[in-house]
Amino acid sequence: MHFLYLALFILSVKALPHRCTRGQAVPAAPLTPSQTPSNATLGCSVNQTSWQFDHKNHANVTLGDRSFLVHIPTAYCPTLPHALVVSFHGYKANDVRQELITGFSAAGLTLNGRGIVAVYPNGQFGPGKNGNEIIRAWQGAPYSPPGVDDIAFTQQMVQLLSDNLCLDSNRFYASGKSNGGGFTNLLACTPATAELFAAFAPVSAALYAGANPADCNPGRSVPIINFHGLADKIIPFDGQAADSQGRTEYATPNITQYREAWADRNGCADLPPDAGPSLGIFASVSHPYTQTTVKTSNCSEKSRDAVVSGFTVDNLGHFWPSTLGLDSGGVPAPFNATEDGILPFFDAHAFGSA
Ligand SMILES: *[C@@H]1O[C@H](CO)[C@@H](O)[C@H](O)[C@H]1NC(C)=O
Ligand SMILES: *[C@@H]1O[C@H](CO)[C@@H](O)[C@H](O)[C@H]1NC(C)=O
Ligand SMILES: *[C@@H]1O[C@H](CO)[C@@H](O)[C@H](O)[C@H]1NC(C)=O
Ligand SMILES: *[C@@H]1O[C@H](CO)[C@@H](O)[C@H](O)[C@H]1NC(C)=O
Ligand SMILES: *[C@@H]1O[C@H](CO)[C@@H](O)[C@H](O)[C@H]1NC(C)=O
Ligand SMILES: *[C@@H]1O[C@H](CO)[C@@H](O)[C@H](O)[C@H]1NC(C)=O
Repeated sequence: MHFLYLALFILSVKALPHRCTRGQAVPAAPLTPSQTPSNATLGCSVNQTSWQFDHKNHANVTLGDRSFLVHIPTAYCPTLPHALVVSFHGYKANDVRQELITGFSAAGLTLNGRGIVAVYPNGQFGPGKNGNEIIRAWQGAPYSPPGVDDIAFTQQMVQLLSDNLCLDSNRFYASGKSNGGGFTNLLACTPATAELFAAFAPVSAALYAGANPADCNPGRSVPIINFHGLADKIIPFDGQAADSQGRTEYATPNITQYREAWADRNGCADLPPDAGPSLGIFASVSHPYTQTTVKTSNCSEKSRDAVVSGFTVDNLGHFWPSTLGLDSGGVPAPFNATEDGILPFFDAHAFGSA
């Protein structure tokens, strides 16, 4: 792993500020091992990171031939563990675009009552859907760059973040849109990363076979919150056997069945038949926003972390839901996936809090 540290290269301009939330003591020195909570990463007990953050609290960190954009909250405190949200961009997009459409860096957002460290990694360039382009994409799609191990990259990136920032290892989360949502699903299906991240949020996910393997076997019950629009023409809600050009490698599942498969995998099918009105494997249905149906599996008797929550939005296209239409040219969705759905779900699902 040492070559990773040598490969680390930073492009920014200002030292990491020592800012802590008002009212909290600001320790003068790094935590000693006896002061450090067990969920605090190494970055809580070493001296200030060499990472340089600019005036908007961004650092662009390079790891080998990869890069990821890091945003620390205004109230970042280098001796208090913060939650980490990794947000993977879609096909043709990048770190900056993903930060813009998801808003995980917005001021005032919290997990466990503390500001969030939000990270937007860049995919490698692949051949594109036509095979002769140069377009960023994550592992698991027909257009992914061949031979790139994005799971290993993600593990190395989280390790580097853990060593350089003060993070709460019980509160690492993965999310993504479209191709990045498909990759988020692949992380949930993979035992090593199902143990790394406490919960997952695939949005308008491109669930090609490589991202949603038939033998998905995470090794634990995995909390998943999923959003999909009924007007999505890129990844249709009803699924497709092939794309418009007849390419079967572009097959994607019926999203209802995709959610049911997760509930089934999580053991939710074991609910007693008298658990409530018949919703299939789902235990509750609600309409918290206009044009929005939320179905949630309730497997709390088996495991509180088994929850699968599916948001279906009537007129939503292939977008990250936002009332400001940040991803849809200003066309508003009925709610913000980030603030109203994902962060409350993540807050309710941490490791080590049975
Ligand atoms: C860390 O900082 C403390 C003082 O704040 C200093 O005594 C110590 O030598 C530093 N350790 C390293 C490894 O730089
Ligand atoms: C970060 O650096 C990489 C090159 O290492 C570049 O491709 C990427 O666009 C940069 N991101 C930002 C936000 O500047
Ligand atoms: C999608 O799956 C659900 C649940 O099995 C089913 O009710 C629905 O008819 C399916 N939709 C299509 C278009 O096949
Ligand atoms: C889930 O089921 C348990 C009993 O099995 C019940 O106590 C709880 O209220 C249910 N929660 C929801 C959100 O339906
Ligand atoms: C969504 O976020 C925007 C920007 O922060 C905010 O103005 C709006 O009130 C939010 N909407 C909801 C439903 O939370
Ligand atoms: C993790 O550490 C933080 C900060 O010390 C603490 O507030 C939180 O309760 C811890 N969470 C768990 C699950 O241990």
